[in-house]
Amino acid sequence: MALDEKKKAETLIPSGVFAESVTEVEHYTDRLFRFRMTRPASFRFRSGEFVMIGLPNAEKPIYRAYSIASPSWDEELEFYSIKVMCGPLTEHLQKIQKGDTVLMRKKPTGTLVNDALLPGKRLWLFSTGTGFAPFSSLIRDPETYEKFEEVIVTHTCREVGELKYSQDIVAAVKNDLLCGEFAGGLRLYATTTREASPFMGRITDLMASGKVFDDLGVPAISPETDRGMICGSMDMLKDTKAALEGFGLVEGSNNRPDTFVVERAFVD
Ligand code: A2P
Repeated sequence: MALDEKKKAETLIPSGVFAESVTEVEHYTDRLFRFRMTRPASFRFRSGEFVMIGLPNAEKPIYRAYSIASPSWDEELEFYSIKVMCGPLTEHLQKIQKGDTVLMRKKPTGTLVNDALLPGKRLWLFSTGTGFAPFSSLIRDPETYEKFEEVIVTHTCREVGELKYSQDIVAAVKNDLLCGEFAGGLRLYATTTREASPFMGRITDLMASGKVFDDLGVPAISPETDRGMICGSMDMLKDTKAALEGFGLVEGSNNRPDTFVVERAFVD
């Protein structure tokens, strides 16, 4: 960014938000990228929560909810984003580079947190597309493995290339010194719907047919042993919620923990 542009951006930073510096950007496909940025020393959050993100490119910046993809112990913050051609935020956000400024409102929130679930044996994290982001945070948090013996994260995308982020993160968790020793019970079940891959189909169909349970060698979901979190598009949330209710699970919240919780990736 040129010096006068940088100065102009700084004068546009509103009060009540953090202005952080981008430290890394990685593009996965023409629709998906991730970025990391500095973390304010005073900023605390629970793994799985989201924040409002914006850019200092207008007098009234546009903010969108973004799940924090890094765990609560990480010294930086990571986000995983879709690129929308005419998305008011993402059309600009997808062009950010190392050293650029990103705005973040100060209060994190969300229901995809360990506190909103009753203890159980097996945790299911159901995601489609960028809905994997909050689970990228939770599967890197040792607390998740203190609470659950087994953690199964499902990620469904249209095409194989869109699964790279979740595959990279799960592989990194397994090799990580801090998480690796806890994360023995972590498994990724990745499926595609519009390109051939080893496992194919919507997770809702794979639960209905029982194929996902056969593939993983686990019993069908039951309220005695299983807990769930769901993150994806509105339709995916609705259908996956109905599937979990069909297995006898009940939706919970921060104030009333129960056997599953729901959230959507609120981007553009
Ligand atoms: P499909 O290709 O059959 O639509 P999107 O990019 O549209 O958000 O979709 C991401 C993934 O989520 C796709 O693989 C898509 O499958 C799947 N999906 C879309 N709607 C649902 C739903 N209602 N239930 C389960 N999976 C869904």
